[in-house]
Amino acid sequence: MSQIDNVLHEDRRFAPPEEFRERAVLGDEETYRRMYRESIESPETFWDGVARELPWSEPYSRVLDWSQAPRARWFVDGRINASAVCLDRHLPERAEKPAIVWEGEPGDTRTLTYAELQREVCRAANGLKSRGISRGDRVAIYMPMIPELAVALLACARIGAVHSVIFGGFSAQALRDRIEDGSCCAVITADGGWRRGSVLPLKREVDAGIEGLDFVHTVVVVRRGENEVAWTEGRDCWYHELLAGVANECEPEAMDSEDPLFLLYTSGSTGKPKGIVHTTGGYLVGTSLTTKYVFDLREDDVYWCTADIGWITGHSYIVYGPLANGATVVMYEGAPTTPHAGRFWELVEKHRVTIFYTAPTAIRTFMRLGAEHPERFDLSSLRLLGTVGESINPEAWMWYRDTIGGGRCPIVDTWWQTETGAIMLTPLPGVTETKPGSATWPFFGVDPVIVDEQGNELGANEGGLLALRKPWPSMLRGIWGDEERFRETYWSQLPGLYFAGDGARRDEEGYFWILGRVDDVINISGHRLSTMEVESALVSHPAVCEAAVVGRPDEVTGQSICAFVTVAADVEADAAFGAALREHVASEIGKLARPAELRFTDALPKTRSGKIMRRLLRDIAAGIESVGDMSTIEDYSVLAKLRDYDD
Ligand code: WT7
Repeated sequence: MSQIDNVLHEDRRFAPPEEFRERAVLGDEETYRRMYRESIESPETFWDGVARELPWSEPYSRVLDWSQAPRARWFVDGRINASAVCLDRHLPERAEKPAIVWEGEPGDTRTLTYAELQREVCRAANGLKSRGISRGDRVAIYMPMIPELAVALLACARIGAVHSVIFGGFSAQALRDRIEDGSCCAVITADGGWRRGSVLPLKREVDAGIEGLDFVHTVVVVRRGENEVAWTEGRDCWYHELLAGVANECEPEAMDSEDPLFLLYTSGSTGKPKGIVHTTGGYLVGTSLTTKYVFDLREDDVYWCTADIGWITGHSYIVYGPLANGATVVMYEGAPTTPHAGRFWELVEKHRVTIFYTAPTAIRTFMRLGAEHPERFDLSSLRLLGTVGESINPEAWMWYRDTIGGGRCPIVDTWWQTETGAIMLTPLPGVTETKPGSATWPFFGVDPVIVDEQGNELGANEGGLLALRKPWPSMLRGIWGDEERFRETYWSQLPGLYFAGDGARRDEEGYFWILGRVDDVINISGHRLSTMEVESALVSHPAVCEAAVVGRPDEVTGQSICAFVTVAADVEADAAFGAALREHVASEIGKLARPAELRFTDALPKTRSGKIMRRLLRDIAAGIESVGDMSTIEDYSVLAKLRDYDD
């Protein structure tokens, strides 16, 4: 475990402000400790108490069946519909309450009350049904951040179709891989969406991505960008035309608790992206409970999570968690700094946002832009701040607290993953004394442990692997179509434990400090990419012979991609070629995968057995001089050349 350094010495701590604690959903540590103890000692009693609050159309007969581990069944035999949980159940009390307050990048706005959102979801559900889409079908969603995106998820949920949202920044090829893997019969998209002042042509990517895929019989297109689109008669239909004649009511399908609700693809350390499967009952229980306690949700809150719904954060903490709690959710289409550097803060002021949840990379970007931008706006409505996606450096944490939170807002640093479905390690804002940079304590029902590679538990402040001992309701149920990979990836490395892929340490007071990934996954702006995926995109270029990709530290995005590339003898690796190669990766995967740096080399350093020496490359990319044990390097001259290489 020597590669896990723990260099952080942080001893500042911040107790919840008294006025916050007094009004908090959970405001005393004793109650937290008692609830936590119960959730660990008698999980079934604890989760039964929580799940009872949801509107089951058929009660469950058992809380948990873990006899086929790692295949979990939660709330066995229960029947429930996610869109009914998020919408119908609020209609008696909250019909006129805003559910979604939306702002487009150009500044246009729309507000949908719970009644309006419910009606729109029913209509969209009827529209999908009229195209023959039904329970169990997979539907790909590739959209900008407009209200119809949330509607699309909930409409699928209403009829029992499994949604597979693909982030709008992915390219046609990435879209195709995911649509094929899930054999999606339909795609919901838009003509285009606004991003940094121009319209991204989404429909064009869909057309390219599904060319020749005969199983895709329907493409529903929302009009947003007003850009020109090509049209395939019979397959394509406008959203507004599809909904023109449909009924306003649609009975929610009574889904089995363990029916899949959605697939969401994420990168692993090897091979193609994994379609993470989440099911219905447990996911709703996990996301709704965490939203209530972690965000201390009150009836009059205006809650804004700045993530894109294309990622798990948006699924769990824009759509399902907050709506299940009847919250008012702010949704924003555009880039954080368009048309000006204070755009986010302008929106906080305009919509009187009270709870704000974003990523460390965004905070560091704002730090660089300067405090004068947030200072132009009235941020006094804020009462709670959150972060997710990667560890936040204490400096950014302090800036967030002081400059955005005015020194009065607690910060919840939430650690979780696509696979966990819901927040796992987090402060509770009315209870936990926070330490900058620490995700602090486990949430209810979460039983984390730090172990070495053999699974032995480590002591305080020893860096090791972060694993989970107990099943939890919102846990992934599998990888779509690949049971073997599911078992292999998450449950075999440390027998009997769920292994998350992260290194961590726990300090002497029981606080968790995440130390980053221990596998070949890089975290760029809080988004996971596998080095393998980028490598295979690089070598798919005809001029490239071999490529090795590593992450290197980046002040703003956390990590960025550095690619070591060898090219064919007759190719000149000049600046123009480098630019073309970076574009090639962008078109294979998406812009987020475009390498920040390319280093052309005659050969890659390998061990005698032919393995690329990634740790060495990581050190070179990071500019670290000492490269450790040199005895296994095959070709010293290559090493020397790599180190001296200068852009
Ligand atoms: C990986 C999961 C969960 C939504 C966003 C990313 C890293 C996430 C934290 C945090 C330190 C964090 C981990 C994790 N991560 N939150 N608060 N502190 N690291 O979801 O794409 O599934 O990535 O993000 O490395 O394994 P994801």
